[in-house]
Amino acid sequence: EKGTYPHYMLKEIDEQPFVIRNIISKYKDENENIKLDEDVRTAVTQADRIYIIAAGTSYHAGLVGKEMIEKIAGIPVETHIASEFLYNMPLLSEKPLFIFISQSGETADLRGVLVNVKKLGHPTLTVTNVPGSTLSREAEYTLHTHAGPEIAVASTKAYTAQMAVFAILAVDAAQKRGVTMEFNPLQELAIVANAMEIFTERKEELEQVARDFLSTTRNCFFIGRALDYHVCQEGALKLKEISYIQAEGFAGGELKHGTIALIEDGTPVIGLATQPAVNLNIRGNMKEVVARGANPCMISMEGCEDEGDTLVIPRVHEYLTPLVSVLPMQLISYYAALHRDCDVDKPRNLAKSVTVE
Ligand code: M6R
Repeated sequence: EKGTYPHYMLKEIDEQPFVIRNIISKYKDENENIKLDEDVRTAVTQADRIYIIAAGTSYHAGLVGKEMIEKIAGIPVETHIASEFLYNMPLLSEKPLFIFISQSGETADLRGVLVNVKKLGHPTLTVTNVPGSTLSREAEYTLHTHAGPEIAVASTKAYTAQMAVFAILAVDAAQKRGVTMEFNPLQELAIVANAMEIFTERKEELEQVARDFLSTTRNCFFIGRALDYHVCQEGALKLKEISYIQAEGFAGGELKHGTIALIEDGTPVIGLATQPAVNLNIRGNMKEVVARGANPCMISMEGCEDEGDTLVIPRVHEYLTPLVSVLPMQLISYYAALHRDCDVDKPRNLAKSVTVE
């Protein structure tokens, strides 16, 4: 039930710190180490390449999951859109592991791929919020995202939960492969949960941002680099899906190769700057759009902040920034949709789970 909340989406956004703490407790053993099924551990570390298959927001979580597994565990990963992979399968490695990410566990495009790769004899793992679901039952292994029921069509807490599970999976695989690790995901996720919490207090600020930047616009761009780029793709999807504002998430450096032609006087551009290694670059990209008349909204993280940023979010571990930086994007989308009188929880033309191809 949504209780005192006007919409499920807002309730589910607010639940994210609790979900992360829940995940920590479910994936921690009595010695404070990562608790994971030994079979899953073996399947991940024996793979010579991991293929992540997903759709929509779960695909965006998969893009972040790839970065985590490659950078932390050193296993090559490809993330694919399920409906593309289904009819256009790339060359596979010798010992692939397939990971399906799905909040509902019922998405037909994923199921098609699952059936095909099982026929080829490859191991399969589903990361889902619904353990009894089709994709969970039909895959060899399941990891539960423990986010609780997600009712709003726009996925919020499932996305951050999926990324949290990938961080744990990546570090576990690294440990199993003997990579020495400074990064304790269970501790760092606790810091993430605290950082998320500040947004329950800062909603008015985000409502104002939505008012200032999005109340009359027809379109909006999100730009970021590295992990921020993937969060921008998710931010744009959230905004289009519930507010019907045309939005795109771009890699900051790619704009000048065409898209910058769309920037006009007053076009809102939401920039994300949480990655120290590319901070100067994304700020340079923002200057380029401002010079063409854009209305800039910079969201940064402590350590990357600059005077004039619209919002500075608390610092968390570099690999986990998407789990926090997506919250302002979710809230901005929520308020933009409200201001435009859109049906936040049930946007037009969409269903919560897409069980047809
Ligand atoms: O249940 P799934 O995670 O498999 O669903 C995938 C997409 O349909 C879903 O993420 C969709 O993009 C959401 N409406 C996004 O908010």
